Amino acid sequence: ARIEKSGYKHFMAKEIAEQPVVIADALKHYTGGGVNPALQLPEGVDFTGVDRVMMVACGTASYACHVAKYWFEQIAGLPAEVDIASEFRYRDPVLSEKSWAVFVSQSGETADTLAALRHAKEKVAKVVSVVNVPTSSIARESDLSLPILAGVEVGVASTKAFTCQLTVLALMAIKAGLDRGRLTADQAGELLVGLRNLPGLMNHALALSAPIAAIAEELAEAQDVLFLGRGAMFPLALEGALKLKEISYIHAEGYASGELKHGPIALIDARVPVIVLAPRDALFDKTVSNMQEVMARHGKVLLISDAQGVAEAGHGVWRTLTLPEVPAALAPILYAVPAQLLAYHTAIAKGTDVDQPRNLAKSVTVE
Ligand code: G6P
Repeated sequence: ARIEKSGYKHFMAKEIAEQPVVIADALKHYTGGGVNPALQLPEGVDFTGVDRVMMVACGTASYACHVAKYWFEQIAGLPAEVDIASEFRYRDPVLSEKSWAVFVSQSGETADTLAALRHAKEKVAKVVSVVNVPTSSIARESDLSLPILAGVEVGVASTKAFTCQLTVLALMAIKAGLDRGRLTADQAGELLVGLRNLPGLMNHALALSAPIAAIAEELAEAQDVLFLGRGAMFPLALEGALKLKEISYIHAEGYASGELKHGPIALIDARVPVIVLAPRDALFDKTVSNMQEVMARHGKVLLISDAQGVAEAGHGVWRTLTLPEVPAALAPILYAVPAQLLAYHTAIAKGTDVDQPRNLAKSVTVE
């Protein structure tokens, strides 16, 4: 069937809005439809005896891997690495027969990721892929492939594929936690319930579209924008910056909040918006103190947090956005929504081509 915009101005807007539905579908597929979600991953997803996961991807998919690295290590105590596919082969990675190599790709056709897969094949315990196109080369050449079930993604800037990749990777990390005895069935169940509640929370985040559009009018004037986050919100800062630069052509960088003082703080003045992704989690106070360093130098802070976080730290910042509370581990999935909407509305304010940004391709099949 032909893919339509179904009343949306852009595919990107449609794909952002679809996230609660496609994530709910993916969760139903992998955790069943009953009252109590239970993991139903393919049989081969068994981490017993696995010593390490090496994740490899490009672009947005690589940031999903970076979030998952925190999950595999925190939830499952399983060492995890992330490589950019174009670097993987050439750094002579040390591959082991006890490790898994996990390739994450929306299209399943990205040349660098496919070449990296072929490099790892036969040298690791298992080649696993997490893809949106189940008939793709990457899916076909893996020992085991998990579809993310996002449906066709048309916008060049990946949105729903990112959050569906995160969803599937979170399920894998929970499975790893169970297989390795790091999680009790109850703890796993709690995480699964948290995942199942995400689509509802995402609808609240989507409802912030109008205030985000108002902020975007001002962001559109910026030359440079910084995104800051700590923990698993750090890779989300990278993804927020990538989205913004891809479609609005504003220079943007993501930084780990703690790295601010090691360089980027030199850029801060009253013209530089700094977007702080800070749910009220264990790292919140540290991130807030980094945010205050920005404010002391007259940086324009947009604080994205939950109600408690905004109440505690929102005083005196340029703008705030309030998201619902979410279990700390799952915050990157929810906070992806305002990051995407900020990029989208800034591009609209600038009048750039949202679905077909200049110089970019949906799927890059050359190395
Ligand atoms: C291109 C797209 C990005 C995407 C990247 C990886 O650069 O513009 O949105 O994240 O390729 O694509 P893949 O299909 O492998 O996820």
